[in-house]
Amino acid sequence: MAVLRTKMGSLELENPIIISSGHLTRTGEDIKRCDKYGGGAVIIKTGFLEKEYEKVVKPYAPGLFPDARAQFYSTGDGYVGICGLSPEPVEIWAKWFKDNIKEIKTTVIASLMAISVEGYINGAKMFQEAGAEALEICLGCPLPYLLPHPYAGGAGFNAAIVEEVCTEVRKAVDIPLGAKLTFNPLDASPLKIPQKVGLDFMTVAMVFPAAPGVKLDEIEPELSSSVMLTGSKAAKYANFVALLHLQDQYKDIHISSTGGTHGWKDIVEYIMYGASSVQVQTLFLQKGMGLIEELKRGISNYMDSKGFDSIEDMKGVILPKLLTYDDVLATYGETKGKIVVSADKEKCNGCGVCEEVCNWGAIKVIDDTVEIVKEKCEGCGLCVCSCPQEALWLEHTELIRKLKRG
Ligand SMILES: Cc1cc2nc3c(=O)[nH]c(=O)nc-3n(C[C@H](O)[C@H](O)[C@H](O)COP(=O)(O)O)c2cc1C
Repeated sequence: MAVLRTKMGSLELENPIIISSGHLTRTGEDIKRCDKYGGGAVIIKTGFLEKEYEKVVKPYAPGLFPDARAQFYSTGDGYVGICGLSPEPVEIWAKWFKDNIKEIKTTVIASLMAISVEGYINGAKMFQEAGAEALEICLGCPLPYLLPHPYAGGAGFNAAIVEEVCTEVRKAVDIPLGAKLTFNPLDASPLKIPQKVGLDFMTVAMVFPAAPGVKLDEIEPELSSSVMLTGSKAAKYANFVALLHLQDQYKDIHISSTGGTHGWKDIVEYIMYGASSVQVQTLFLQKGMGLIEELKRGISNYMDSKGFDSIEDMKGVILPKLLTYDDVLATYGETKGKIVVSADKEKCNGCGVCEEVCNWGAIKVIDDTVEIVKEKCEGCGLCVCSCPQEALWLEHTELIRKLKRG
């Protein structure tokens, strides 16, 4: 049976499913609850040192810092939501680690944000001393009240700040250390820093800034305010692009990816793109952490069916198979007229959607059944995606890859 063990630096995880930093991990009590579900690790909700926290948000009683106004609006596959940071500053978390960490079976990773390099260094030392098994520095959070602070929130979009913070924290602590960065498609250079400065892992995240929709009957917003969209399937595809940028690094640094996981297949896909572990939040908010067992079973059964013995075996396998867009264009002449649509006329109900969506005039519905003009078909697959009867498919789609790889 496939072994699900994986690594984050020198840290050994039982499996690659991590309960990410977020609403499920706001306090020590939450971590105790997470511990019941068999995740590979759990990451505490991000907080600041108390002194720095006060400069960003106002403390109030009875919790020290506000997260009580968290609100969620379902988009179907995710949430548009508002949230704060951990209601507890690093000092309280450090005490919690000291008092509780020995009783927790799951690997617990600390998470830290700061508005200065000193804040990152001091917070990291505090967590190490308190017994945190690893630390993730959070450099990619779009909360609006963080953005005026160049070392917090959007710091991950600035390669120089990422390098400064990661270098200094690396010098200060020797527990496994990672940085969480939100991918910016216009500038992937920050993603290169964690490995360059000797971090043990990096977390590739995609959290979209978002504003709420409108309740059309009442002409009111769906949510009183906004911050971010999480859980969206689009996040997974954007993260795949980030992982492509990291394809020369995934053997040298452990990558954790986070965004848009809805089932075991998404986790397997992330691993095939080079991730060693996958962090999940929205799915567990939607369906509960009891799902972790099902995810583990799904991954394990799939690996057995395909002959992958370990996560390491499966890691990155898709990367050599991907072509550039230029490669695809270069094969146009040889594939024209060969990658074409075919139809199961028995299944076709003559609805005509395929004819409507075809830009090339390659598909017609005559007497309630589909007719294909193969010479005109460009093999784009739009008709296949649109057919409500699943009566269409593309032939020879593997040809482009075969031609390019020789
Ligand atoms: C309500 C909420 C709070 C979050 N808080 C944090 C946080 O404090 N620190 C952090 O690094 N990420 C935070 N995240 C981001 C998640 O850890 C995760 O990376 C992101 O939501 C993408 O994963 P998902 O699509 O599975 O939700 C939060 C996400 C949500 C939904």
